[in-house]
Amino acid sequence: MKKILVTGAVGQIGSELTMELRRIYGNDNVVAGGNRTKPGKKLLESGPFEICDCTKMEQVNEVVKKHEIDTIYHLAAILSAVAEAKPGLAWDVNINRLYNILEAAREYKCAVMVPSSIGAFGPTTPLDDTPQDTIQRPTSMYGVTKVSGELLCDYYYKRFDVDTRGLRYPGIISNETLPGGGTTDYAVEIFYEAIKTRKYTCPLGAGTFLDMMYMPDAIKGAIELMEADPSKLKHRNAFNVTAMSFDPEILAAEVKKHIPDFTMDYDVDPVKQGIADSWPNNMDDSAARAEWGWKPEYTLPVMVKDMIEVLSKKLLD
Ligand code: NAD
Ligand code: SER
Repeated sequence: MKKILVTGAVGQIGSELTMELRRIYGNDNVVAGGNRTKPGKKLLESGPFEICDCTKMEQVNEVVKKHEIDTIYHLAAILSAVAEAKPGLAWDVNINRLYNILEAAREYKCAVMVPSSIGAFGPTTPLDDTPQDTIQRPTSMYGVTKVSGELLCDYYYKRFDVDTRGLRYPGIISNETLPGGGTTDYAVEIFYEAIKTRKYTCPLGAGTFLDMMYMPDAIKGAIELMEADPSKLKHRNAFNVTAMSFDPEILAAEVKKHIPDFTMDYDVDPVKQGIADSWPNNMDDSAARAEWGWKPEYTLPVMVKDMIEVLSKKLLD
């Protein structure tokens, strides 16, 4: 049985990925690693939790040794909007701390999953049907760290034979843990506000198309990639994956089908808008489909229905 460490386990993706990994591989075999943020009861009580601040190399090594970890899902990171406000922190966490994790993986022979992002593309990338292999000249600090991370993971695979793998996630939509300060957060916030107040002010303008994905597909993708036959993986560290593409108008119209008196206006945040405009409208994920069978389940209408049902129970009951 695998022995897994999830860094950034208290975050938006980590809090749900850890629970699914525990369901599959056994509670005791999946260590949730967090730094400062207090973990929720579910995460804390269902399996081991360790303080694993990736800034502290000894702490990472200690946790890997103690639990005989053979697989790391490295989710500790700074997201795009926060990275733009704190570029030094973003470089430190997204690059220097990734280096610590890759070094631990090299020493203790662990496989590593490191998410990349739509943020790894930039304004000179073809923004429609963005190819798997294309121009990557991002203009945000987040994007700079994501491209560097992809390259660093490639290097560790080629030079040290570390089994690194990764997905270029789009905006992830979920209802368990709030997102951590990204450009795509509006696509989560809209549901909370629609249910609580019937209105939402969107920080991205109408016509801003971005790739998105519902959390169950994001989790499925990560686990399937880590279980995939390595001999089939040509693009190990940076698979384009997407499930849907929409702009705020399309999402609001879908929400309105369930909450007819919902209204949305705009107060465009120039920083987030600038980042969003430099990201793909929709990615081509055919390499992931061909190399390891990627196939998302959730379409926009199914995701919206589920989000509203789950969050209505959570927020109104
Ligand atoms: P998040 O911000 O919700 O969670 C990240 C976690 O990392 C937080 O709990 C934070 O406290 C922790 N952390 C920060 N610095 C740390 C350190 N030094 N040591 C240990 N932990 C630290 O992020 P997320 O949305 O769960 O993202 C996980 C990964 O997926 C990131 O690499 C992110 O870039 C990528 N990704 C996310 C999305 C999305 O929409 N959520 C989209 C594309 C890619
Ligand atoms: N959702 C992420 C962000 O907006 C994309 O990587 O930062």
